[in-house]
Amino acid sequence: MERLQKMLAHAGVASRRKAEQLILEGKVQVNGKVVRELGTKVSESDTIEVAGVKLEKEQKVYYLLYKPRGIISAVTDDKGRKTVSDLFPFVPERIFPVGRLDYETSGLLLMTNDGDFSYMLTHPKFKIDKTYVARVKGIPTREQLRPLERGVVLEDGKTAPARVKMLSSDKKADKAIIEITIHEGKNRQVRRMFDAIGFPVQKLKRERFAFLNLHGLNAGESRELTSHEVKLLRVQAETGKIGS
Ligand code: URA
Repeated sequence: MERLQKMLAHAGVASRRKAEQLILEGKVQVNGKVVRELGTKVSESDTIEVAGVKLEKEQKVYYLLYKPRGIISAVTDDKGRKTVSDLFPFVPERIFPVGRLDYETSGLLLMTNDGDFSYMLTHPKFKIDKTYVARVKGIPTREQLRPLERGVVLEDGKTAPARVKMLSSDKKADKAIIEITIHEGKNRQVRRMFDAIGFPVQKLKRERFAFLNLHGLNAGESRELTSHEVKLLRVQAETGKIGS
């Protein structure tokens, strides 16, 4: 849901202030009724007309981005830091990240202007798998990794069981590379899970999101999802399985 004047401004009808004026003047209709209240909330499914002309709905677009480290997963940043939106100067639609990756985390991040799609992919009830590769300080034993598979207690609750695989270890440098798959999206979850078992993350990358991976992309690059991929993601979110 969005404020009517904001929706009009975003649709390019007029500036926010001019849009407010149009509403006050009774020139804006929502679902066939004149609306004069500035706070009115509207959604994608509402039909909006301005001076008798129907507002065109923005076409839905879907991108897969290889987010580099040192960039914010947001549309804007009040501290003026670079955001993922800065990597899409060629996209006219108002796209936003599906969930988020930390400033220091790199990897696969979806971007879209489709709010329902974003909700389905980020809500934990839909159980979309996300696979990360973490470099941690120290070399945990199988037993020390076990709590991650059972669920660890964080300050905002217990995590769901994760799948964990040791990929390599380096005794001399005292570090290990570990793959972990989770389907929740608590804030800084992977870092906090490893903190909880005493092996802090030094570097983190999201390698996979559902069946999608980063093949063919360098950090900072993106590609559009195919319509088949978009469909499969919806099916997977709804059923917990990949459709064929
Ligand atoms: N877990 C984290 O700790 N950071 C991320 O960016 C994503 C998952």
